[in-house]
Amino acid sequence: MPSRILKKRSLIPGQTSELTLEAPHIAAKAKPGNFVILRVCENGERIPLTIADTDKDAGTITIVYLVLGKTTAHLETLKEGDEILDLCGPLGKDTDIHKHAGPVICVGGGTGIAAMHHIAKGHHTVGNHVIAIIGARNKDLLLFEAELKRFCPEVLVSTDDGSYGHKGLVTELLEERLKADPSVAEVVAVGPVPMMAAVARTTKPFGVKTVVSLNSIMVDGIGMCGACRVSVGGKTQFACVDGPEFDGQLVDFKELSSRLSAFKTMEQISYEKFRSGHVCTCGK
Ligand SMILES: Cc1cc2nc3c(=O)[nH]c(=O)nc-3n(C[C@H](O)[C@H](O)[C@H](O)COP(=O)(O)OP(=O)(O)OC[C@H]3O[C@@H](n4cnc5c(N)ncnc54)[C@H](O)[C@@H]3O)c2cc1C
Ligand code: FES
Repeated sequence: MPSRILKKRSLIPGQTSELTLEAPHIAAKAKPGNFVILRVCENGERIPLTIADTDKDAGTITIVYLVLGKTTAHLETLKEGDEILDLCGPLGKDTDIHKHAGPVICVGGGTGIAAMHHIAKGHHTVGNHVIAIIGARNKDLLLFEAELKRFCPEVLVSTDDGSYGHKGLVTELLEERLKADPSVAEVVAVGPVPMMAAVARTTKPFGVKTVVSLNSIMVDGIGMCGACRVSVGGKTQFACVDGPEFDGQLVDFKELSSRLSAFKTMEQISYEKFRSGHVCTCGK
């Protein structure tokens, strides 16, 4: 179904934007953890993006994307009032959210912070004490700090270069917090694969339940094509219908990283063609 862009906000100019989309049917059903699959134009590929927020009354959903290749670069050319050709969702299993006695730590890295936002909000809504730990390479690349501060009593920040907050990695802040507070009930991590793998390694000695949201390559998003298969606890799972969230201690991150880079050369060629003004077969 087509969807109109009602609002576009540039979060990091030229790199990351937030779109508010008219999607009443998706907004009515979407839960934290869900994603959409969209197609920008007739001959374009289908890409998955997490639902970062919803407004059921306004009938809108929010997505946040990093311009990484051809499709996200094409999406970035759209303006308020333009239409996205196809928007399909909500897809994926909802996050398992229930009241915990102890705090829930939500860790987000890069664009993953926006995706983690919806999950953190869900935990807050059921009465959990949510601690957000967010990280970026530098202060200018940090997303959603103000949005998380609206409902998280604690938002801890790290930057690789020390330009804001703790100088270092989110996992250092996480380890400190886990050492200081044995009552932490659950850790949720959304971000680059190496970050999620590092979060799982950090929580392992503490025995805390750790949920990671996997960004495997997806095509149909409904369990038919097998593109998104991941190994979890030695079993093959389809991230689109069995996930995208899984137990971080059981995920084969090495295999996931290798599958994510399987089409790198083709992706690069396609992005270069787009940047050099090559006209898409759909005419745009
Ligand atoms: C469940 C899920 C939720 C996601 N949520 C977000 C989000 O909220 N914001 C965001 O910026 N990104 C998100 N992603 C990643 C996003 O789908 C890719 O960045 C996007 O597809 C890149 O497409 P491209 O054509 O611009 O880049 P390309 O050059 O085609 O690819 C760049 C990289 O993106 C990944 N990728 C490419 N095609 C796909 C595909 N069909 N499915 C999944 N990954 C792909 C691969 O790692 C690839 O190397 C999510 C992925 C999944 C699986
Ligand atoms: S994307 Fe096709 S099976 Fe998951």
